[in-house]
Amino acid sequence: MSEVEWHREMLADRRRVRDFGEAVRAVVQPGDVVLDLGTGTGLLALFACRGGARKVYAVEQGYIIDVARQIARQNGLGDRIVFIQGHSTEVDLPESVDLIVTETVGSFGLEEQILKNLSDARRRFLKPGGRLLPDRLDLFLAPTEEGGHYRRWGGEIREDWDLDFAPLADLGKHVSQGLWADPGKFLGSPQKLLSCDFYQDQSEKVQGEVQVEVVRQGEIAGWVGWFAVRCERRLVTSTEPPVPGSSWENVFFPIGEPVAARPGDLVCLRMRLDDPFWTWRFTMSHPPVDRTMGDFFSYPPAAFKPAGGGMADSED
Ligand SMILES: C[S@@+](CC[C@H](N)C(=O)[O-])C[C@H]1O[C@@H](n2cnc3c(N)ncnc32)[C@H](O)[C@@H]1O
Repeated sequence: MSEVEWHREMLADRRRVRDFGEAVRAVVQPGDVVLDLGTGTGLLALFACRGGARKVYAVEQGYIIDVARQIARQNGLGDRIVFIQGHSTEVDLPESVDLIVTETVGSFGLEEQILKNLSDARRRFLKPGGRLLPDRLDLFLAPTEEGGHYRRWGGEIREDWDLDFAPLADLGKHVSQGLWADPGKFLGSPQKLLSCDFYQDQSEKVQGEVQVEVVRQGEIAGWVGWFAVRCERRLVTSTEPPVPGSSWENVFFPIGEPVAARPGDLVCLRMRLDDPFWTWRFTMSHPPVDRTMGDFFSYPPAAFKPAGGGMADSED
């Protein structure tokens, strides 16, 4: 997907736009100086102006900033929004701000490096007593039967050309994938993995663990993850399933081969973020399973070790 298609899709996501629009309206105060970190097409900067901001610094690393500039002018707000092209950690502002707004929230919350970037912006640009939107992010997980479609990856090539692309499906067993989850496929209640308070300095090494009791018989294919973001204790938005058609997909974390589970079994997922890569460890006592998986998608293939790579499977 090109950058412009991505932005078009996000703007067409009425729920996302409504939720952030209402949140900006609730938090911005007349006369505020605002930073929009990752302004994209300028959406939150425009909302902040509508809410009475005196000035908005709109920082964006991508070329979409040129379009944002035109959109601001088109809406008569070119004189109140100062566009700055660059990565937020590498730019300076001429003054400190009352409010930082950002929608740099990944499908599983943290993969756009909001922790590092918002923390840097808060320390360098926010006035004492200034506000953040969002100021908190929670991550949730549930074990699911859904998501094993990667096992069929390459099936068409085998059928049509008699070529074996099994290593692709093998990789699919280990890396996270987007899907709009069906909560009817959950095998137990969702649990909160962790919370990030953006007013606090956060380590880029974030970890957490969930333990869920299986409530019905089935096969666990993996876990589904989603996020909720808040501001001043109010929910801004959440991708709790079902959110079909949302510009944020839920995230499926596979566990290798699916595992049969019965009511009463305890299943556990431990997750660690080495920004921006997740590693997850799935364990259950019955049957005994202990598997470690992780996202290696930006590394060269040589770094991907399907059978080694820290995976220990006590089933074998
Ligand atoms: C998810 S999009 C949202 C765009 C816009 N705020 C909106 O709500 O439609 C995030 C944008 O932030 C930009 N971005 C992410 N991190 C950034 C950073 N640290 N500095 C500058 N731009 C950043 C990306 O290039 C992308 O255009």
